[in-house]
Amino acid sequence: MIALGSDHGGWALKQEVMKHLDARGLEYKDYGTYSEDSCDYPVYGKAVAHAVADGECEKGIIICGTGIGVSICANKVRGIRCALCGDVLSAELTRQHNDSNMLAMGGRIIGIETAKAIVKTWLCTEFAGGRHERRIGKISDYECR
Ligand code: RB5
Repeated sequence: MIALGSDHGGWALKQEVMKHLDARGLEYKDYGTYSEDSCDYPVYGKAVAHAVADGECEKGIIICGTGIGVSICANKVRGIRCALCGDVLSAELTRQHNDSNMLAMGGRIIGIETAKAIVKTWLCTEFAGGRHERRIGKISDYECR
């Protein structure tokens, strides 16, 4: 199960991401917002991050106008490694190297086709492990200091 969330700035792109996931038969849960009415991105960034950190969902995708606000929020939740991506190579490398469990995108920054390609790549790419495991361990150690 994939957790989804956005504020009003990411709402339109989230609709496209949902269509894309539907077309690929992938299950998701939308944690809001549910309209284009102005709202506060920390509410949704946090809700999706907790769904992932608490094990309700395996991965999360969050979208705001720039992707920056929601990614800042998500990365404050213990156990979350949220990557803000605007290109496919970053999406691939953040899965391989950072084992990112959340993806953030900017609904006012990237186009629909780029976003769909990012989502597809991010969901399909496996963590490379090895030396990257050690580095991620250092992030977890730091969280527990
Ligand atoms: C909302 O206007 C905008 O600030 C928000 O979507 C996001 O870009 C914040 O980082």
